Amino acid sequence: MRRARAGLIIVAVCSVFLLAARAVVAAPLRTSATAKGLFVGAAVNMTPFRNEAIYSDTLRRELNLLVAENAFKFDALHPAQTTFNFTDADALVAFAQANGMAIRGHTLVWSNQIPSWLTSGSFTRDQVIAILRDHIMTVVGRYRGKILAWDVVNEAIDGNTGQLRTDTFWFQKIGPEYVAMAFQFAHEADPGAILYYNDFEAEGSGTKSDGVFNLVSGLVNQGAPIGGVGWQMHKVNPFRITAANHTNAQRLAALGLEISITEMDVRIPLPSDAQKLQDQALAYSDAVTFCLDEPNCAALVSWGFTDKFSWVPGTFNGFGDALMFDMSYQPKPAYTAMQTVLEAGLGNAPPVPTGLQATAGSGQVQLTWNASAGATSYNVKRTTTSGGPYTTVGSSTTAAFTNTGLTNGTTLFFVVSAVNASGESANSTQVSATPQAAGFSLSATPASLTINRGACGTSTIGITRTGGFTAGVAFTVGGLPSGVTASFNPGTTTGATTLVTACASATAAVGAATLTVSGTGGGLTQTTPVGLTVTSTADTGGVTVTPTLAANGPWFNEQQVRVTSTANLTALSITIVIQRTAGVSFSGQYNTVGGQIAQSNTSTAGAVTYQFTLAAGQTLGPASDRVFAAQTSGSGTAHPTSGDTYTVTYTTGGQSFVQPGHF
Ligand code: G3I
Repeated sequence: MRRARAGLIIVAVCSVFLLAARAVVAAPLRTSATAKGLFVGAAVNMTPFRNEAIYSDTLRRELNLLVAENAFKFDALHPAQTTFNFTDADALVAFAQANGMAIRGHTLVWSNQIPSWLTSGSFTRDQVIAILRDHIMTVVGRYRGKILAWDVVNEAIDGNTGQLRTDTFWFQKIGPEYVAMAFQFAHEADPGAILYYNDFEAEGSGTKSDGVFNLVSGLVNQGAPIGGVGWQMHKVNPFRITAANHTNAQRLAALGLEISITEMDVRIPLPSDAQKLQDQALAYSDAVTFCLDEPNCAALVSWGFTDKFSWVPGTFNGFGDALMFDMSYQPKPAYTAMQTVLEAGLGNAPPVPTGLQATAGSGQVQLTWNASAGATSYNVKRTTTSGGPYTTVGSSTTAAFTNTGLTNGTTLFFVVSAVNASGESANSTQVSATPQAAGFSLSATPASLTINRGACGTSTIGITRTGGFTAGVAFTVGGLPSGVTASFNPGTTTGATTLVTACASATAAVGAATLTVSGTGGGLTQTTPVGLTVTSTADTGGVTVTPTLAANGPWFNEQQVRVTSTANLTALSITIVIQRTAGVSFSGQYNTVGGQIAQSNTSTAGAVTYQFTLAAGQTLGPASDRVFAAQTSGSGTAHPTSGDTYTVTYTTGGQSFVQPGHF
């Protein structure tokens, strides 16, 4: 009965958590417990819950069920007749839901922790029934659909007689009917919750457990909506499960009731020692084994989990160390023993995912990793503190996940684990990412250039894109000194860099300046400075350029650029611009290099432009007076050549140069 129900509840209440089943050694208890369809839980003390991160971190890591130690009790929730206080209860429910944990509600009707406005008031029977109904409808109704099981009535049986206690407020004000009424009201408020009767010394044989059995079988027979019996199990070390516990579980199963161990602790006479802790471990592992063996056992809940916070030392003088974690939140032998039982027989989890990478976007982070063999899904976990603890933020059936709704500027740390039917791997290596608003920034490497007159220098402009910014960025430059030109390659890019080349002419202004490189894209403009110093040193890379007027007659002109180089030229481009004074037009062009040079020309009303370009991949060795000639026709008037210009751009020794001039 429990297996099927727990599975459904896990799917409904904590589907994220179902995926967290894992079987690696030393996995948290909740992982293997979920894989086996069992709830493992603990009572929560709200003071450390609010004040010690390790307290809530341990809860979320280890357990798949929570119950409040006091926060759901009558006096806590209902301090005055018309006042309810849900602050703590709401916080616990929100925490459990956020972490894929089920919740037990404890407790609606008990003779302890009921407020004095109720016990000291002079209410009639009907008024007390109305108060009980109002309390249950309000509290259970508020959390309808969120509470797995309610301890509707707590500790109502007298251990000496096996009958209902007669010394309680509820019995005395209402009579024995209060029990069935409470179940009815709770069922009305949340028909989906499993309604429990909860008591101590109800787990074995004897007057008390027989009394509990008789009470609940009477309720079942009269059709009351009871679904389970809680065995508190506040025990003294050493304690072992016996056949009587199994017999008792099975007679309750025969009534159609599930059971849960609801408040287990095993108090040790202090000081404890290694042997006592080993004995205690047997008590806890017995309880797990028992719950796994009895199909109607739904949950194993301890009353607290760390010895730092336990009701035991304050109540039982000379006793303590009753829980599975010590005062420093370190697991005790009891914890390890439970873990061993829970993990027994589980198959192999997939290997740990490798190659996790995070790419920050605006308000989101995209994660990718290498698929793990045999994984059916992956859990994605996040923290703001490097190293964890991590919270599961989603799962994916592929090796990729996008975590959205994030705050820009906050660095997050991610890990992933791989899941299959047998369990969950350990976490991957951590990666970090900081979501940023979409945009980009620019940087220059080197940040400043020094070039000689007649030479060029190059800086790489880096484009750092943030927040998933992918737009093309177009570049311009400002602040060029006289005689300096600059160009970008490429001029627009969707990539991560462009090159800016600044060239100083032979007559460029000497001195320091700051160029402003601007990039514009996606509606944004960013700039980066590039320092530029032009020196007075003339630098031509061993290349001499000589303009030569080979012919200057009334009917024909030939204007040559002659290039002499003392080293290899790996790039060469010559542009000659002849003014179209009266009657002048293109006549011809030639060079003395040959086929490596591509020639072309264009004419406008104002000028004829001649282009000579060394083909890509070609090299010209050292040579004197290579001729690049521009020919024009005249109409009877000698052409004045002083307005005609040329530009020779070339690369030698890996450096670029430019030599402009005029005839
Ligand atoms: O809330 C008051 C606080 O205002 C006051 O300052 C403080 C001073 O002592 O007391 C606080 O109330 C205490 C309350 O816990 C909340 O901390 C009570 O004194 C104290 O008696 C009470 O003890 C709880 C006890 O139930 C009450 O019967 C224990 O923490 C809690 O562990 C225990 O739990 C019960 C289960 O509900 C039912 N089964 C037995 C189990 C152990 O006794």
